[in-house]
Amino acid sequence: MKDLTSSPHQPQTDDVANSNTKSGILRAGDIVLIVSRDKREFFVRLEPGKQFQNHQGVLEHDNLIGQKWGATVESHLGYAHLLLPPSLEQLIRNIKRNTQIIYPKEIGYILMKMNIGPGTRVLEAGTGSGGLTLALARMVMPYGHVYTYEAREDIQSIAIKNIENFGLTEFVTFKLRDIETGFDECNIDALFLDVREPWLYLDHVHAALKGGGFFGALLPTTNQVADLLYYMQYQDFGFIEVEELFLRAYKPIPRRLRPTDRMIAHTGYLVFARALLHQD
Ligand SMILES: C[S@@+](CC[C@H](N)C(=O)[O-])C[C@H]1O[C@@H](n2cnc3c(N)ncnc32)[C@H](O)[C@@H]1O
Repeated sequence: MKDLTSSPHQPQTDDVANSNTKSGILRAGDIVLIVSRDKREFFVRLEPGKQFQNHQGVLEHDNLIGQKWGATVESHLGYAHLLLPPSLEQLIRNIKRNTQIIYPKEIGYILMKMNIGPGTRVLEAGTGSGGLTLALARMVMPYGHVYTYEAREDIQSIAIKNIENFGLTEFVTFKLRDIETGFDECNIDALFLDVREPWLYLDHVHAALKGGGFFGALLPTTNQVADLLYYMQYQDFGFIEVEELFLRAYKPIPRRLRPTDRMIAHTGYLVFARALLHQD
């Protein structure tokens, strides 16, 4: 369990897969987004007998269980706290990380472009902090599976913890190795690479994918995109697309509606393709 009071500016994600808010009531095991009156955000998994503590006092989990989603409760010091169900986007933005993660704006698009849904068998590398892994697992459950490869143990251990915290372990197989030796799986529906030199592994990618399977990659520079496109010419890939996404937030003030002052100007380029059967 993470220390939820350690860094109020970095919202805390302990545990997640809070998909069941249908009853309208907070239950043990739910992940709740607690927002303090000064707009600080904390993600907490409700466990009977436990306490949540921040700079504005203590909330007993037992007093939160049974509350309505959207309710406001007071800490022992009398400070108001709002109880909200977190979105997948909020959870991904706030996972523990020791690598750059793929941004939710790209993740949402990747899921659609690669036709990820319940039952999909998907392969990814590198795992990194597990940001994409989390979204993939949430989408493929309960019938599908995610196989995720990572070369570095110290990085993989954070991702394993993140996926455990989200209650999604049964949908993910973690592999600790460099993908230069290939993948164990075949007949895969979709394969995504978030590694520096994806063109080195195109043979392995093609061998793992089923005919017509979806390939995707994220690359931070156009030089890398050009290298990938160059090497893809020598493989049986078709329907190649290169895309970039921009997301601009607005200040939600009715009489002065305008973009926020700052935006993330660059995240990465997305390359998508389909694996074609080899024609002699
Ligand atoms: C940018 S991170 C991936 C982030 C991840 N997509 C996420 O959303 O959290 C890239 C990861 O790829 C791993 N990696 C790079 N080359 C690799 C290779 N050849 N085999 C396996 N992992 C590799 C790195 O160790 C690093 O953890």
